[in-house]
Amino acid sequence: MPVIVAGAQKRGGTPVERPLFHTGPLILEDLPVNWKLPAALAATAAGLALANGTPPAEPIKPLPPPPVVDAAKADLGKALFFDRRFSKDNSVSCASCHAFDKGGAYAAARPTGVGGKEHGLNSPTIFNSAYNFRQLWSGGQPGIEGVVDAVVKSPVVFGSSWPEVLTKLAADGALAAKFRKAYPDGMTAANAANALGEYTRTLTTPNARFDQYLRGKADAITPDERAGYELFKKYGCVACHQGVNVGGNMFQKFGVMGDYFAARGNVKTADYGRFNVTGRESDRYVFKVPSLRNVALTAPYFHDGSADTLPQAVQVMFTYQLGRSASPQDVELIVKFLGTLTGEQPKGAQ
Ligand code: HEC
Ligand code: HEC
Repeated sequence: MPVIVAGAQKRGGTPVERPLFHTGPLILEDLPVNWKLPAALAATAAGLALANGTPPAEPIKPLPPPPVVDAAKADLGKALFFDRRFSKDNSVSCASCHAFDKGGAYAAARPTGVGGKEHGLNSPTIFNSAYNFRQLWSGGQPGIEGVVDAVVKSPVVFGSSWPEVLTKLAADGALAAKFRKAYPDGMTAANAANALGEYTRTLTTPNARFDQYLRGKADAITPDERAGYELFKKYGCVACHQGVNVGGNMFQKFGVMGDYFAARGNVKTADYGRFNVTGRESDRYVFKVPSLRNVALTAPYFHDGSADTLPQAVQVMFTYQLGRSASPQDVELIVKFLGTLTGEQPKGAQ
């Protein structure tokens, strides 16, 4: 049974030791998906019971300082991130679907890639993606380098191939020089993917007001936002959205307490989530729990982009993940709390 150590990443295909970003438990990948939910909810309740005595440890941790990356590689990666030559028709770059003015995500339910083709899934934010234990909604890639390789070839993203991309890039003398500065062997597919990985790992959003609060600045959040956080814990949202990324450290079924997909209708292959990776029936409709950092900026929500607003998304979570309803006032307080998770946004191309 493989144990996935949170934070383990592959750089350029070579496994590399990385610090453990997550303070949460190790994820045992092969256990049935919801095995730890009752335990997590019980632990949450126990934590609350403690509230009268010793304060329990908070289930959410502040973002650590940005990871140390190789400056020449990250600088090259930045240039590549905004480079439309990655797409077959030179129409889109990484930044088209992971927009800096949209919290690292995309303003519509489904982004369009090469040739104006619609992607089957909503763009997750790339901000803080280095802190996710796996990449993609399905968790289908262990690291960012693997995602880059996949998007180059994906018919709905760049629709290209490495030889085609590298031929275009090699014609650019200044870019080739940047490659040589960063890598002894210059411009290769693995180096391009690694440079994009290095740059993406710098895209973190530190110093959210909630992180300041966790570090001891009690007045960094308002009483309403604090009340929203208490509700987030009390109702059990933290059973799934927890750790440094307020998510991104486990898989869960979408529809634990009700059939979300039957209610929504028009089920497509992309909705099968992790099943598409493992082929295991128990993984159908299972997704990586997304990070809620900067969630106030990344509408629409869910892998299918079906919720236009945050109050809507929170109501869906109450119905299908917790099997209960909440008053509009409680939802509003939780939404206020979620607003405190917006951190300092990375600067764009300029
Ligand atoms: C056409 C739009 C589009 C383009 C262009 C694009 N992406 Fe994405 N990206 C997506 C979508 C949609 C997903 C979710 C796909 C999935 O889960 O299978 C995604 C997922 C990701 C993830 C995983 C994030 C997470 O939390 O799981 C990373 C990292 C990422 N992209 C980085 C990049 C990089 C780097 C580039 C450029 C080399 C890029 N993307 C280009 C749309 C795009
Ligand atoms: C059983 C685990 C679980 C619980 C409990 C849970 N969530 Fe989620 N949450 C998920 C999963 C899985 C998704 C991704 C669903 C999808 O799009 O496929 C998600 C998605 C979200 C999203 C959308 C994020 C985005 O970027 O699209 C928000 C907002 C959210 N949850 C908030 C909450 C709140 C607030 C609560 C408590 C009321 C809660 N969640 C309880 C597992 C959970």
